Amino acid sequence: MSAAGPPQGANCAPAFGGSAAAEWVNEAASVGVHMIAIDIAAADKVFPNGVRALEPVTLGVREGEFATIVGPSGCGKSTLLRMVAGLLPPSGGRVRLWPGASVSDREPARRLAFVFQSATLMAWADVERNVRLPLDLGHARVTDAARASERVERALALVGLEDFRRAYPRELSGGMQMRASIARALVTEPSLLLMDEPFGALDEITRARLDRELSELGAREALTILFVTYSIYEAVFLSTRVFVMSPRPGRIIDEVVIDEPHPRTDAFRVSPAFAQHCARLSAMLASAMENETESASS
Ligand SMILES: Nc1ncnc2c1ncn2[C@@H]1O[C@H](COP(=O)(O)OP(=O)(O)OP(=O)(O)O)[C@@H](O)[C@H]1O
Ligand SMILES: [Mg+2]
Repeated sequence: MSAAGPPQGANCAPAFGGSAAAEWVNEAASVGVHMIAIDIAAADKVFPNGVRALEPVTLGVREGEFATIVGPSGCGKSTLLRMVAGLLPPSGGRVRLWPGASVSDREPARRLAFVFQSATLMAWADVERNVRLPLDLGHARVTDAARASERVERALALVGLEDFRRAYPRELSGGMQMRASIARALVTEPSLLLMDEPFGALDEITRARLDRELSELGAREALTILFVTYSIYEAVFLSTRVFVMSPRPGRIIDEVVIDEPHPRTDAFRVSPAFAQHCARLSAMLASAMENETESASS
């Protein structure tokens, strides 16, 4: 076995969590829970090739919310998330983060991190170096090497990958690669996490476990999360609020509040309330698709 190889039991890393969590909870607790974190006002998107990806979208996400966008493939979910991240400018309207916070208040307490659909880890670097990347690139303004190492440790502990720091991406399971990718986002100590279908490529069992762990992490760290999925079950399980999008060009056609205790547990997944929320959301999406078909054929 190579020195860089993973220890025994590589496929059964512990859940997100650990003692590193407590410090973050304290930091997060000092952030007001009702402040608007994301303010999208009539933001639309037409790409240079003429494709209209989004009709004007207006929505607000409060700090501490777990908000999810669901909608059919191609309806503009990733486009919307990229606009929130500042990776793509809206064609019209506006997107603001923490509009009520003073500029000095936004840093260092308020930062965003993006988790992409695939883990996008550097194949030639071990887990620790992958997780450290944002700090090496100067994100989060950590210049002190000891402080950077401390942050990497904390992020690894939060996703339960401390024992796999020397493993290379090819030596990790798909779920563990996603955890490494989430640790890379957490290392900047964000208060806003944008996640684009992060568990879409995983099997159902792993996905359900990571959903549960993410729910625990979000609640423990008082994170604001904007999540994208086309799984109705995942949306209901995770979210405090779900925004439903129409087919392309996407717009928000409905909004569902999932007023259930957080963090979510496996018991919620098999509860009558869960089934009811799923049925309601499913009907909304079906009706959105039907309306679309009717207007396309008329
Ligand atoms: N850079 C681009 N240039 C032109 N068109 C684009 C570009 N990016 C996305 N689109 C188009 O915009 C629409 C929305 O794309 P987007 O990736 O946001 O959809 P999505 O809802 O995330 O879909 P999926 O669920 O399949 O990931 C699609 O029709 C897509 O082809
Ligand atoms: Mg997408």
